Amino acid sequence: MPDSDALQVGLGRRGYPIHIGRGLIRRRELLAPHIEGRQVLVVTSETVAPHYLEALVDALSPTRPEQVVLKDGEEQKTLDTFRHVVDRLLEAGFSRDCVLIALGGGVVGDIAGFVAGCYQRGVSLIQVPTTLLAQVDSSVGGKTGVNHPLGKNMIGVFHQPVCVIADMDTLATLPLAEHRAGLAEVVKYALIVDLPFFAWLEEHAGALLAREAETLAHAVRRCCEIKAEIVARDERESGTRALLNLGHTFGHAIEAGLGYGRWRHGEAVAAGICAAADLSRRMGRITTAECDRIRALFERLGLPTGIPQEVSPAAMLELMARDKKVERGRLRLILLRSLGAADISTDFDPEALRSTLRECRA
Ligand code: NAD
Ligand code: GLY
Repeated sequence: MPDSDALQVGLGRRGYPIHIGRGLIRRRELLAPHIEGRQVLVVTSETVAPHYLEALVDALSPTRPEQVVLKDGEEQKTLDTFRHVVDRLLEAGFSRDCVLIALGGGVVGDIAGFVAGCYQRGVSLIQVPTTLLAQVDSSVGGKTGVNHPLGKNMIGVFHQPVCVIADMDTLATLPLAEHRAGLAEVVKYALIVDLPFFAWLEEHAGALLAREAETLAHAVRRCCEIKAEIVARDERESGTRALLNLGHTFGHAIEAGLGYGRWRHGEAVAAGICAAADLSRRMGRITTAECDRIRALFERLGLPTGIPQEVSPAAMLELMARDKKVERGRLRLILLRSLGAADISTDFDPEALRSTLRECRA
């Protein structure tokens, strides 16, 4: 694997590189062009800081960054935490040309990104994702935000980073359950646009779980390629980008219904994708064999394949009705057309959806 191998998110003047490789946190030259002469705030979490904060701070030298170390967990993704970070920026007298660096998983990235998007109407952001999920998904594409008790990611802005630094070495300290959760989003990419990649994932499930370096690097790179391409085509989700939400309407309802933090986001997405596949099957869009293949891959990866019993079908329906994809009162769902192809559907059969919610249970 090369040290650094950059992809580009093609958004014209707002385009940016995604550096993927090993030992990148220590690579001063990747950070220097974005921080020289500026005030820098690193936002990280209690778990990530002891592993990687020092290395990052060394790489920023001679700049001495301010630091905010957040408590861990999805339940921290709130307006209160947002306010806490903004308070720090104001107390330290940060001006509009400052830079925020998000060092951590998707929770840290979404909060720091939201602050960067709002502080003085928008300041620079560098994403340094340290979970598999954040490397393949949340650090790329500019979606930022926090949760509301009534709905996931309900408050936020689009705000693209100036650079993403995905240091594969950071994945070594990730707990296995978090690693598995990241693999759920990896499977999502394959299902929406890339059947050969899906077959490759089936073949390499064991190596991916064992975090075999070359295999994992290939998966991260392929996901970032797909995401960069989709974001470049549809930055603000007026069409194609919605495909990246396969399983997420179900998944977000599971997360909110259980209470944030009970299930990992990736776990809820895996169960949500199985529900979306089940509904696609009921509507004759995919075969039972294809549906079984999806479920089997998630089972091999050690991920949930059904909606938890605690969230009733009625609660799921109510929570799903608050989804951001609801348009003019109509719920839109991402459904599969085949393995490797998906589309946005409003004309799904409501009775089939109710059957899925009743029967696709953990
Ligand atoms: P997370 O940020 O909660 O991280 C998971 C856990 O792993 C945390 O306890 C964290 O401290 C710890 N951790 C992180 N890096 C580590 C490392 N290298 N070693 C050891 N521990 C480490 O969860 P996540 O799965 O990274 O992200 C989920 C969040 O991302 C959700 O809030 C989800 O909504 C959001 N998300 C956003 C987008 C987007 O486009 N913005 C896309 C997908 C998901
Ligand atoms: N994770 C979905 C998106 O970035 O659009």
